[in-house]
Order: sequence, then C-alpha cells, then structure tokens
Amino acid sequence: METMIDVPEPLALYIHWPFCLSRCPYCDFNAHVRDVIPQQRFRLTLRRELVWEAERLGRRPLRSIFFGGGTPSLMEPETVRALLEDARALFDIGGDFEVTLEANPTSVEISRLTELRDAGVNRISIGIQSLEAEPLAMLGRRHSVEQAIAALEIARSIFPRVSFDLIYARPGQSIAAWRSELRRALSLAADHLSLYQLTIEPGTKFEALHRRGDIVLPEEDLAAALYDATEEEAARFGLLPYEVSNYAKPGAESRHNLQYWRYGDYAGIGPGAHGRLDLNGRLMATRRHRAPEYWADRVERIGHGMTEEIALDTGAMAREMLLMGLRLAEGVPAERFLARTGCTLESAIDAEALRRASEEGYVSWHDGRLIATPEGRRRLDALLPFLVT
Ligand SMILES: C[S@@+](CC[C@H](N)C(=O)[O-])C[C@H]1O[C@@H](n2cnc3c(N)ncnc32)[C@H](O)[C@@H]1O
Repeated sequence: METMIDVPEPLALYIHWPFCLSRCPYCDFNAHVRDVIPQQRFRLTLRRELVWEAERLGRRPLRSIFFGGGTPSLMEPETVRALLEDARALFDIGGDFEVTLEANPTSVEISRLTELRDAGVNRISIGIQSLEAEPLAMLGRRHSVEQAIAALEIARSIFPRVSFDLIYARPGQSIAAWRSELRRALSLAADHLSLYQLTIEPGTKFEALHRRGDIVLPEEDLAAALYDATEEEAARFGLLPYEVSNYAKPGAESRHNLQYWRYGDYAGIGPGAHGRLDLNGRLMATRRHRAPEYWADRVERIGHGMTEEIALDTGAMAREMLLMGLRLAEGVPAERFLARTGCTLESAIDAEALRRASEEGYVSWHDGRLIATPEGRRRLDALLPFLVT
C-alpha cells in the first residue's frame, strides 16, 4: 500500500501590536493610544497566545513573521526578541526566514532599530506617508520630512531589507507634483515600496471631513492616471508592481505578504488579528478580540483571545482566493486553486462575466494562471464583484 505523507502547509505568522503614539485621521486599523503602554502585560500575553496557537498547529515550517500594528516599533526590543525565540522553539524555521517589523520615523522608535535588528528583525517597513511637509500635516503625522529621510538612512544602514509606505491620490494632488515626490522617494528607496491611494475608511476622522466636503478625493480618471504615473516612475527605478499597491525589484517582494495573496496559511495573534489555517484538513478563519485589554484579559484567563473560528466552505475559499490572487501580477494558478479550494477556477467565476472581462482586456490566461491585466488591476475594485459571485 502506498504511504501518504501528510506534508504540512508552510506557515506565516502575523503578530499585532495595537498601540500608537497618536491616532492618524485616515486610519481604521486596530490601533489605540494609551498614556502608558502596558509593555510587560502585552509581552506576556502575546507570548502566551503564541504558545497556545503553536500547540494546536503542531510543528510546522514557518517562513515569515510580520509585526504589524498599530506601531510595533513601540514594542520593547526585549518583547520582539522573546517572541522570536519562542517562534524558533515552536516551529521549523528555514534558512531564508523573513522577519518584518513596521516602524514609524519618530526619534523614540528610530533609536531602537539596532536593538530590534539584534533581536532578529531582518526587514523593516517604515510609515513615511509623504515626503512633503503640507501633506504630512494634513495626514496628521507627527514627524517631519527631514526626520523621515533621516530615519530611512539610519534604517538602511542597519537592516538588509528596507521598505517604506507612501499615501498618494491625496486631495488636490496633481500628477506632476506626485511624479516629483515619487521620484524623490524612489531615489531614497532600497528595493521595495508600498504606494497606497488614499481611501476613506468608515469611522475615521477623514470620513467625517469627507462627508462635509472638506476632503475631496481625485475623480476616478485622475486616480487611474496617478496609478499609471506611479507604475511608470517605479519602473524607471526597476521596481515592478507585483501587487496592486506593492512595488519591488524582482526577488525583493515581501514573502510574508505574498503568503496572504497566494492564499497560504497564516496564524494571526494579538488583538484583532486574523488567521487562515488548515486544521485537520479544513481551512479555518480565525479572529481575535479587538479591544487590547479585553483580549489580554482573555489570554490571561484561558490562554488565547480568539473570538471566532469558522470553517470556510468551498464558495468562501474560492471567493477569498480570487480576491487575493487577482491583486498579484502573477495571478492565480488554476492547479493550486483546485488543490486549495476543492473547486476549479472556471466554476468559481461567472462564465459570461469572464468572457466579457477577457474580451475587454481586463483578465487573461497565461501558463495555467488567471491574471488581471495591468488595465484590470487598475480597476480591480470594480472588476472583482463582477467576476466573483
Ligand atoms: C498598519 S499601517 C502602518 C502603521 C504605522 N504605524 C504608521 O503609522 O505608518 C499600514 C499602512 O497602511 C497605509 N494606510 C493606512 N490607512 C490608509 C488609508 N486610509 N488610505 C491609504 N493608505 C492607508 C499607510 O501607508 C500605513 O503605513
């Protein structure tokens, strides 16, 4: 009889740090401001929840860890070190292990970068948002352009891999002004950038301003032209859009984020973190309590702060995998789609919608993969509901 060897899916681990120094008016992430950050309590509870999650997952290969937030550069380096030591003890870690941490360019945090590297972080992602003074103020940022540039230079001297975030398609931004800001950014960049168009998120201060007409976003045509200009400028520096908002030199892509978009397994610990995990042959969607102290209280009492764990059915998996995969320039491989969701790519998409989208040049098949063309990726928000039923 043939022996079945059950090869466990490789895993990515997301760790959420829910605290910031101040709340940015555009941001709806699970971020909270406290007079004093309860560092020790969150070190202990994050560690405890990691052990709880690892125990039920078993010893699996772990490819990457991402410390997101909030502002994880506010974590004491000792906390990062302890969590990385735990992860090394609990999982099988390969040679090209990626450990990313999100940082802000304020001086408190920048002074910790060497310690964070020594703790095991090997990739840093800095929230710069703009290289112009006025938009930085408008975005409610607490750092200056000079501080951002200094932070970037320091980070580049410490870490082998550095990325930073910018927000564009801001109110009143012209294509010429964005091109010039982006060129400056590209000249400071290493081999990866995240370039997001400003979105108005429910419940944020920006939403109220937008409703009153005090914030006006670029019209659709201007937003599309800004996207094209972004792609063009980035390409001149050799950075390609491997995902809708992420640009990298080939080989410098974020392995952790690729795992999400390829619909691989990831565990999410910390307040509000999500996970997608293959447990005993079923793909589970997990979610943690969002309120930091409530989450910590649960961990202290029962070992974890999970509020929801749902087995995804074929339809839900197919939808999620398409929504994620069509964001990628490499698209969705039909074979992996079938293996992961149990249904064929063709059966997950409305046939008539697919025919029209491919006739109009928004999607194409290439080498067994369904790909959103650059034209399609530019209009992905409109395209996806049309294709994915
Ligand atoms: C979790 S946040 C990074 C947090 C980091 N502490 C900071 O403040 O920069 C991830 C990134 O999402 C982007 N982002 C957040 N809200 C956004 C919005 N409403 N529109 C566009 N980009 C946004 C920002 O570029 C931000 O750096």
